[in-house]
Amino acid sequence: MSAADRVEISPALKLSGDVSVPGDKSISHRLAMLAAIAEGTTTIQNFAASADCASTLECLRRLRASVRREGATLTIEGRGLQGLQAPSQDLDAGNSGTTVRLMSGLLAGFAFESRFIGDESLSRRPMKRIIDPLRQFGATVEARDDNFLPLKIKGGDLKPIEFKMPIASAQVKSAVLLAGLSAHGTTTVHEPLRSRNHTEIALAEFGARVHASANTIQVEGGYPLKGKQFYVPGDLSSAAFFLAAALAVPNSGIRLTGIGLNPTRTGFISLLIAMQAKITVGERSIAAGEPTGDIIAETSEISGIEISGSWVPNVIDEIPMLAVLGTRTQNGIRIRDAGELRSKESDRIFAVASNLRALGANVEEYPDGLFVPGRQILRGGIVDSFGDHRIAMAFAVAGLFAAGPVVIENPACVAISFPGFFEALRRVRS
Ligand code: S3P
Repeated sequence: MSAADRVEISPALKLSGDVSVPGDKSISHRLAMLAAIAEGTTTIQNFAASADCASTLECLRRLRASVRREGATLTIEGRGLQGLQAPSQDLDAGNSGTTVRLMSGLLAGFAFESRFIGDESLSRRPMKRIIDPLRQFGATVEARDDNFLPLKIKGGDLKPIEFKMPIASAQVKSAVLLAGLSAHGTTTVHEPLRSRNHTEIALAEFGARVHASANTIQVEGGYPLKGKQFYVPGDLSSAAFFLAAALAVPNSGIRLTGIGLNPTRTGFISLLIAMQAKITVGERSIAAGEPTGDIIAETSEISGIEISGSWVPNVIDEIPMLAVLGTRTQNGIRIRDAGELRSKESDRIFAVASNLRALGANVEEYPDGLFVPGRQILRGGIVDSFGDHRIAMAFAVAGLFAAGPVVIENPACVAISFPGFFEALRRVRS
């Protein structure tokens, strides 16, 4: 195994400094997709440096969208609601569930056929959840075993639907809303628990007729979107690794700058504050219709908590980090109602449990969660990323506060959301 196939993280004495993280991945996907079907030019600054978002851009280019990227700034000449064209090749979504699920919704409005493919991990992830509502709109969708990639979609002439989502998923909600943009009338979606609302916010920013109340969102089809300028806030899901690291490593204080603070995403901060973590949120402003601000975290004694029910969709991507941090709490962290974690880039319940055990920790695994008892000292050892960026980063943080070094095998996947992660981690340690 070559050096690039593994990274060793040794215990840190102290962490300090300011950190900025890439633009929010969820927001970046949405702004790029909507810009492609808007009228006029959209510029997006601080667009996510993320392999997943690059997959979205590549798919848009294959649909003949005009996408120019200079560093973190993107310029998209919108083609209008009906302006995308049949791709001459497959649309490769890579590792990105958001790309395939949201873009399937977008393409349901077009009469040509598109075929999505993806990497091994994405090819194992369930697509029935978007296939069902898109068929109700009248789109023709075919997939392997009616659930997996490759997935073919051919749409156009959609009738609006009222859809009651069986699971809490921002990706499913977004697929329905994006298809609703081209339906003949008003589409309504009801979600069982509140999930991230970046699609609703982005739609409103582009001038769509969208109405959101509690857990019901409506969009009117057939109205043009207008291109504009955006600045994407930093990704709280990437910031979470540095916040957790600062809490767990002695004598530390870290400031994360310009981070998105949308309340449908800030459960991680609320839960840590509820556990007596020293976390403060600084001055706030608005970017791309989304609240942003700086977050400061300092070394803390944290108590422990149970995370279940309506908390879960809000912190779904932060659960691996929370579980690892559980070893440093007084009373442990219990996670329930989070069976969705088994359908992410890896089976995150299994990945977290087996890596924690490899570092010498006790963990109880449930079908829908984990219990990580507190007051455990991780002894260090070798873990696997399972090809999952958030598993690689959560265990890199474990290496900072374990008793001995943690070696992470297959760490390159961090580029899915945060290509400069290991360099950023080196900069804050002394
Ligand atoms: C995302 C929604 C979440 C999240 C994923 C990004 C999005 O997935 O886990 O990383 O951008 O809408 P689900 O909506 O499937 O839970």
